[in-house]
Amino acid sequence: MQQIPGGVSVPKTPELLRDFEQFKQLLKRRAGLDLDQYKFEQTYRRIYTMMERAGYQKFTDYFNHLAADEGRLRAFIDRLAINVSELFRNPEQFEILRTQVLPDLLKRSLHLKLWSAGSSYGAEAYSMAILLHELAPNRSHQILGTDIDQEVLERARRGVFAESDMRNVPAEYKQKYFRAFQENGRTLYEADPALKRYLKFERQNLLSDPYPQGFDLIACRNVVIYFSDEAKERIFREFYNALKPGGYLFLGNTERIFNYAQIGFENPSAFFYQKPQQEVQRWRSAS
Ligand SMILES: C[S@@+](CC[C@H](N)C(=O)[O-])C[C@H]1O[C@@H](n2cnc3c(N)ncnc32)[C@H](O)[C@@H]1O
Repeated sequence: MQQIPGGVSVPKTPELLRDFEQFKQLLKRRAGLDLDQYKFEQTYRRIYTMMERAGYQKFTDYFNHLAADEGRLRAFIDRLAINVSELFRNPEQFEILRTQVLPDLLKRSLHLKLWSAGSSYGAEAYSMAILLHELAPNRSHQILGTDIDQEVLERARRGVFAESDMRNVPAEYKQKYFRAFQENGRTLYEADPALKRYLKFERQNLLSDPYPQGFDLIACRNVVIYFSDEAKERIFREFYNALKPGGYLFLGNTERIFNYAQIGFENPSAFFYQKPQQEVQRWRSAS
């Protein structure tokens, strides 16, 4: 047994390490995912734990189990890419945010308070900052980004993004809100201070910490997919309480709240759940 930073110990015999090398090669060939680009200790520990939970003792046997079902293989890859994000991820969702949700909120309030829960390195929070700055510039909006992972929060505070984060950023915004520079032969993009002044990043564990309150909008996208149904339900109820009346919860494009009405939400459009407010004139999506 070897103690790995993070407190969890998993076996690491020469046989297992050899088997893991083979697993990596098989995965690369089958799914194009190169695990050598991931931190070894973390990846090894994570995959070992997933393998053990699925009831296997050899990585290559576990690979065969994954490869037998495309959906299973996808789910495995998604779980590994746990901090994955990008600016304007699922642009069609941001379009609804830009054209319907934020204008609706801005009708009622001059200054908006938004929360990107499970923000990773901040791409979602910076995307929301751009839209808010476009729609209602130079107001004292507040955007809070929270994550369980301190390392990504440090990156979020820097506001520096790789080329791969930028592929959905409209050319106009890329030019207006980012400064391109070179670092170690790579082109990176630093967000403009005009965006940074809206943003604050703090550590918060959605499963155990108190929830900040009083938000017009909470984005929690591609985070709860890793949680049990009980945990998800608790989190959605906490979000409901943390929203102002008329506020919105914004989920990822594969996520749904089936019992939203029981919690108290309305569902004016795919991905968006709204806490009702009697006097609010609600919009409905055309679809
Ligand atoms: C796939 S990223 C999603 C980033 C962004 N929301 C997006 O959709 O692009 C999921 C993030 O959730 C964070 N996370 C996982 N468990 C969490 C927890 N219990 N509390 C807070 N954040 C958590 C991870 O650290 C990771 O950065």
